[in-house]
Amino acid sequence: MRHGARYFRANRVAFGHGTTNAFDEAAYLALHALKLPLGALEPHCDLRPTPLQIAKVLKLFERRVTERIPAAYLTREAWLGDFRFYVDERVIVPRSYIAELLRDDLAPWIAKPGRVRTALDLCTGSGCLAVLLAHNFPRARIDAADISHDALKVARRNVAGYALQSRIRLVESDLFAALAGRRYDLIVSNPPYVRTALMRRLPREYRHEPQLALAGGEDGLEAVRTILSESAAYLNPGGLLVVEAGHNRARVERAFPRLAFTWPETSGGDDCVFLIYREQLPDINPPAGRAIAATA
Ligand SMILES: C[S@@+](CC[C@H](N)C(=O)[O-])C[C@H]1O[C@@H](n2cnc3c(N)ncnc32)[C@H](O)[C@@H]1O
Repeated sequence: MRHGARYFRANRVAFGHGTTNAFDEAAYLALHALKLPLGALEPHCDLRPTPLQIAKVLKLFERRVTERIPAAYLTREAWLGDFRFYVDERVIVPRSYIAELLRDDLAPWIAKPGRVRTALDLCTGSGCLAVLLAHNFPRARIDAADISHDALKVARRNVAGYALQSRIRLVESDLFAALAGRRYDLIVSNPPYVRTALMRRLPREYRHEPQLALAGGEDGLEAVRTILSESAAYLNPGGLLVVEAGHNRARVERAFPRLAFTWPETSGGDDCVFLIYREQLPDINPPAGRAIAATA
């Protein structure tokens, strides 16, 4: 592990796909290759791996450095808290800050998790947030939508892995396009939000991920804008929208100066994820009765 960490540092490997530093990355790959539990290192430190096992670990270290493949694609797994997900290059490696908020059932913004009966994970990728929604809101039926047919195949595998086929419906959809007429108590979304200028500067590791999952247009807000302007039509009264927008808080607030966002603290800071209730959103599809009254 110490060798791996030194090797990663010397070759300026980039982190951010599950671990944040060279030693944790080396430890994760070594424990995975040796089929050891990931929880703690100490119990395994006296083990003497066989030459074959050592070769396996070194092979992973080498691919990590020479091909710059994120560890999760080498091991075909990623973790969000205690939840393990299958991943490959058809989806980004799960790391959404929304997962941290779901761990507390989105308290205090959702007072009674049992009252959430319908939820949407828009831009679901591997299906990771949809699975967490199902876990934290046990009475909810969930739609998980993505534009990528390939990503949905990975999501299908994860949904089946957690035996959630009866509660999570996978939908191929360009944002809300295939969701006409649906209403949700809760919408979460981790859409693509990397600015064009930043896309060009991303470390090599990120080029193994689907660009469709990262590229958010010139200012990073292409998808966020549509989500903000259309969500009201898909939320039930009192419904909550939760969106991860990268470190784009200032841009979002400049683009929507009248909206009263809440930016909860996550391990990424207080500029990554916003929450907003249906009643605080622009209403693009006012009910027919109100529209008639307005023109009368
Ligand atoms: C940042 S990834 C998030 C994946 C997953 N929710 C997560 O947190 O790991 C964004 C996802 O949005 C999908 N996507 C991109 N453009 C989309 C669109 N117009 N409509 C629906 N999904 C889209 C991509 O295919 C990708 O899976």
